Amino acid sequence: VPTGPLKILELPPNGVRTSSKSIHLSLVIPTYKERDNIKNVVSILSQLLDESIPGNYELIVVDDDSPDRTWEIAQSLLTEYPQLRVMRRQQERGLSSAVIRGWQAATGSVLGVIDGDLQHPPEVLTQLLRSVDQGADLAVASRHVDGGGVSSWSVVRRVLSRGAQMLGLVILPGVLGRVSDPMSGYFMVRRSAIANATLNPVGYKILLEVIGRGKVNQVAEVGYVFCERKEGESKVTWKQYIDYIHHLVRLRLSTGRVGRLSRKVNFPVRRFLRFGLVGFSGVFVDMAVLYLLSDPTTLAWPLTPSKIIAGEIAILNNFFWNDAWTFADVSARQQQWQQRLKRFVKFNAICLAGLVLNVLILNLVLNFVIPNRYIANFIAIAVVTIWNFWINLKLSWRV
Ligand code: GDD
Ligand code: MN
Repeated sequence: VPTGPLKILELPPNGVRTSSKSIHLSLVIPTYKERDNIKNVVSILSQLLDESIPGNYELIVVDDDSPDRTWEIAQSLLTEYPQLRVMRRQQERGLSSAVIRGWQAATGSVLGVIDGDLQHPPEVLTQLLRSVDQGADLAVASRHVDGGGVSSWSVVRRVLSRGAQMLGLVILPGVLGRVSDPMSGYFMVRRSAIANATLNPVGYKILLEVIGRGKVNQVAEVGYVFCERKEGESKVTWKQYIDYIHHLVRLRLSTGRVGRLSRKVNFPVRRFLRFGLVGFSGVFVDMAVLYLLSDPTTLAWPLTPSKIIAGEIAILNNFFWNDAWTFADVSARQQQWQQRLKRFVKFNAICLAGLVLNVLILNLVLNFVIPNRYIANFIAIAVVTIWNFWINLKLSWRV
């Protein structure tokens, strides 16, 4: 088990293998209490890789001294699977550092990771590897591109997962904005892209560290469905959410930037201008409907219900124009009504969150910055417009 700083070397460590030929793919399988899965995982992955790159890979099980003795079972497989290696960690703990320790011992020029509980479908491995072979520095298995999904997650878990992603898009837009599924624990990266970077992860989300500190230029994504667990249980608890926020803040502070955005200007200005114009049109729709419903000379409805309906119709208007104009390229590719409906539901939820944000910012600015409600509201609207644009760009239209 390697010790010292969590740094990946440019060249594979010497003397690990007797042959001097370096291996193409090193795939790390982090495990903690996976005794009922480990044999199956090793056998399925070996069979798959023996077909596509026989002899040119290694599987590295990194077990954190599991009390169920997963490491022992893994060690018992060593004779049957010559490409297998097993690390039993007794000093350190944690998923992310386990992955890095595995990579430090790895001899491959491509470094990968896959869960040890069969929730990550093994077939995707070949597509990930092909993407890297075709030039990608990083290939991520994603639940949020075509062909991807989660099998049967509850609404609560979906909302938590998306909320975490939104938070990340705000704190580290240049890192989280680069992939559709920044929470993925299933990916491959070229050794050269993370060589010499000292990684410093907390918690589960090792991919953030790779994108944030590595030199990742070309990214590829492959869709996958996150399967249900059959054996054993997930180690995710509330602590992982705290760790995640801690990780975001630390990465943000220590890299001193929001990620790539500030280095390479790739902000979609055209789209933003269109989005802004559409938003402006929504103001008039809102006003007109409010007038029709609540004015004493027309329907004379009470103000609050009138405003709610006016606001919702404005959201509908904005969605229609954004889908048809701002993101015309996306809607041309995904024009089934189910796909449109999905975009609309997300747009709606994000805009509602934006409204809450608007009220919050208005109060904050008013109380602590400028004691003028119109200037404060203007600032709040500006911030929320950026929020609405950025989060919708990434989550609704997924550009
Ligand atoms: N060595 C080690 N040490 N392995 C660990 C530890 C640890 O502290 N904690 C968990 N693991 C192993 C598990 O044994 C499993 O193989 C894998 O890491 C994922 O852990 P789970 O507890 O099954 O996580 P999950 O299913 O909720 O989440 C997975 O999917 C997410 C969504 O794609 C993880 O892969 C996440 O990284 C991923 O984001
Ligand atoms: Mn799992």
